[in-house]
Amino acid sequence: MRTKIVAGNWKMNNDLNASISLISEIKNSLIGKNYKTKIIICPPFTSLETTNALLKGTSISLGAQNMYYEESGAYTGEISAKMLISVGCEFVIIGHSERRTIFKESDETINLKLKAALANNLKPIFCIGETLEERENDKTFDVIRRQLIAGLKDLGESEIQSIIIAYEPVWAIGTGKNATPNQAQEVHKFIRDLLQREYSTYLSDNTIIQYGGSVKPENANELMSQPDIDGALVGGACLKSDSFIKIVESAE
Ligand code: 13P
Repeated sequence: MRTKIVAGNWKMNNDLNASISLISEIKNSLIGKNYKTKIIICPPFTSLETTNALLKGTSISLGAQNMYYEESGAYTGEISAKMLISVGCEFVIIGHSERRTIFKESDETINLKLKAALANNLKPIFCIGETLEERENDKTFDVIRRQLIAGLKDLGESEIQSIIIAYEPVWAIGTGKNATPNQAQEVHKFIRDLLQREYSTYLSDNTIIQYGGSVKPENANELMSQPDIDGALVGGACLKSDSFIKIVESAE
């Protein structure tokens, strides 16, 4: 039985004061609640340490939105896995489509990042997804296969067990136009079948595959009711505590 995981990717939103307010609101909304769903919050780097302190004593986990694969050195502006661990991160988003498109991250870079995260005991949330053009040209499954195989290259099954996969169709991100539950389920099933063929039934059965792309309180329940959808990676709707909590409640 896979646990549902709802993660909030704040992207480049919320300075330190706004982060403190949002975390406080989320914590208040969760008082007395005993949800089975795992909650992960991924604020910007500048709010990680403070968020970690605020989350002490709660069951909410902390994640970062990116990292570099080198350990240390002359990489101006970059952050290493160890640095993320040192401020309390347990998770890190890797391969988000905004990193792939705006910052030109390749499958090879993403593979190096996944390896570095795992070597440092950070659990990756590994994002994959097709663009609108790729979907319209019937390339969705080819793209998903390529991103998954290239991203996981040279990783052993025991390492892959620590990875959460997030299927985020690029055309659904920040557009208000989510994939229909059937469209999302079809790709999640494809990913699960691919994991079975390439690795094992055990890995396929136990890997958490989140859906991301315009998840809102209005569509969360239907999406997460699909048999192969194990939660959500939420962007816009995680910036308000009430909509984020409603999505967590849908996962319950
Ligand atoms: P939106 O929920 O704003 O579409 O963003 C999804 C996303 O990119 C989460 O990583």
